[in-house]
Amino acid sequence: SSSDGSTEEKTLAIIKPDGLLGNYTERIKNVIMDSGFSILRETITQLDEERASTFYAEHSSKSFFSSLIKYMTSGPVLVIVLQKKNAVADWRTVIGPTDAVKAKVTHPNSIRAMCGLDLEKNCVHGSDSLQSAQREISFFFGEISSGELVGMHDEL
Ligand code: PPS
Repeated sequence: SSSDGSTEEKTLAIIKPDGLLGNYTERIKNVIMDSGFSILRETITQLDEERASTFYAEHSSKSFFSSLIKYMTSGPVLVIVLQKKNAVADWRTVIGPTDAVKAKVTHPNSIRAMCGLDLEKNCVHGSDSLQSAQREISFFFGEISSGELVGMHDEL
């Protein structure tokens, strides 16, 4: 099944503007590899207000929305499609809690503890569910054919 960690999943990671600016990409990729993820796709892009607002549409009513959009459009981001078994939940674990200040205390080995600054500038994004992952991956990359899946060639 898709929830017991036995099935290959894809999830979307974003290295946010402060992560790219702070030259954390290589360290984050080391964590990605050490944690057993494969990188399927990656692209550097500069989001404009419209694209960022669409990507974060589910948070449009939140008090922090305009601030989040301003931050996510403040510089280029690195968007990465990750794959492994249980990728969605495992990537959320690897990045740590949303608030990087708290992450430094409670999850000192997490990516957000390593390179995040606070609740807004938290360095990385991770899809929060399999459905979100599929929507977010198509948002940036369109449909990824099953032929590109690593380790699932028996599906071809
Ligand atoms: S929620 O309300 O539980 O859905 O929020 P959460 O899942 O923790 O966060 C959703 C995304 O919004 C960002 N966020 C914020 N940005 C700026 N300021 C504040 N106060 C703030 N709170 C949450 C948070 O980093 C999440 O972004 P992504 O890119 O999904 O990690």
